[in-house]
Amino acid sequence: MQIAVVGTGYVGLVTGVCLSDIGHHVICVDIDEQKVERMRKGISPIYEPGLEELMVKNYEAGRLNFTTEHNKAFKDADVIYIAVGTPQQEDGTADLRFVEQVAIDIAENLQKDAIVITKSTVPVGTNEKVKRIILEHIKADVKVEVASNPEFLREGSAVSDTFNGDRIVIGTESEEAANTLEELYKPFGIPVFKTDIRSAEMIKYASNAFLATKISFINEISNLCEKLGANVGDVAQGMGMDDRIGNKFLQAGIGYGGSCFPKDTNALVQIASFVEHEFNLLKSVIQVNNEQQRLLMKKAKERFGSLKGMKIALLGLAFKPNTDDMREAASIILSEELVKEGAEVIAYDPISMDNAKKLLPEQVQYAGSAEEAVKRADVVFIVTEWNEVKEITFTDYENWLEIPVIFDGRNCYSLEEARKHRVEYHSIGRRSIY
Ligand code: UGA
Repeated sequence: MQIAVVGTGYVGLVTGVCLSDIGHHVICVDIDEQKVERMRKGISPIYEPGLEELMVKNYEAGRLNFTTEHNKAFKDADVIYIAVGTPQQEDGTADLRFVEQVAIDIAENLQKDAIVITKSTVPVGTNEKVKRIILEHIKADVKVEVASNPEFLREGSAVSDTFNGDRIVIGTESEEAANTLEELYKPFGIPVFKTDIRSAEMIKYASNAFLATKISFINEISNLCEKLGANVGDVAQGMGMDDRIGNKFLQAGIGYGGSCFPKDTNALVQIASFVEHEFNLLKSVIQVNNEQQRLLMKKAKERFGSLKGMKIALLGLAFKPNTDDMREAASIILSEELVKEGAEVIAYDPISMDNAKKLLPEQVQYAGSAEEAVKRADVVFIVTEWNEVKEITFTDYENWLEIPVIFDGRNCYSLEEARKHRVEYHSIGRRSIY
């Protein structure tokens, strides 16, 4: 099939590249000329394992191309994906300006029948709006259907998630469109769930809200475990053995960040309020997460009283490992609050330092390696569980610091291991080791 993908962020680029890899002809559209030029050379604008290899392979095979020209992309397309950003506005709602502009562009350039699919996460009812906009602006005498096909990939494993997803959700106006899209996705061999458009839009928000709820739930349990002397790792493992609960997304830590959970949970609370529904459960999930992101600082303050003048190494800055994405990362709020407390922050991340420099307070210093950050500090905060950070052993800490004091926000080490060493080790939902 001939496919056009508008927007080359995480969702658009990964979708376009993977669809070309299963044999479709894909043209990715972006307004940024330099970005398009770089993508043609096989340079990905985002750090995503495996993506560049597939970009080069499919570009060279002639199945994948990049352009800034909408008319060129839409002219022959059977299917057009809208995968532009839906940033959060101040009131928590999603900003749909980019989606709406793309709908106009599509309408003005379309020359044959097409299915327009929204992949961006959009409030329930948006696809109907997209359809209205297209019908208002359409020039040629062609038939357009809209469809919702939400994306469930995770940053850092986006390519493998696309090839090995649990399900593909397709919400369409007609059965014919649903069948066409099912056919398009067939080579992935992933179960397809067909439904109406509004339900598909809702599945995306409900899924992210549920996963965020699981995380805030285990984080609340971890706070209780600390007070009651239990070990949250064992509690989560014991809970997860029940298939009804499942063992995934029960890793206690310093909360969720990223471009999705914070934005989508806030948006769903807003969406609910528009239909006069107070989504109290989700509001609590968000509140728990806001507090959890500050937890390492709270623990350090409880331990030392004041953090004034203290040198604190932040290991890992991205919102999770294997990405350079800093959006809503706990490191931002932590470094802001640490600076406010008068602490000296020495930050290190294997990949996201350039992005971090734009977001962390200007007082933050940066180290060229985890070892350097630790050696320059009095206390270590483990913020993101990169392999490089997890591979640091307690023996290393003993060698690098006179009295190693570690606040581990991601439970990277076992308590047994900590007990064998001359370290002070505080983690999440477990006893502290002195
Ligand atoms: C999330 C969803 O997992 C994807 O299914 C969805 O497609 C995506 O949002 C989206 O809406 O686009 P992502 O934000 O890339 O994906 O990252 P996750 O791996 O889900 O992690 C999100 C945050 O939760 C991270 O900060 C991570 O550290 C935290 N987390 C995750 C925990 O604290 N504990 C866990 O057990 C799991």
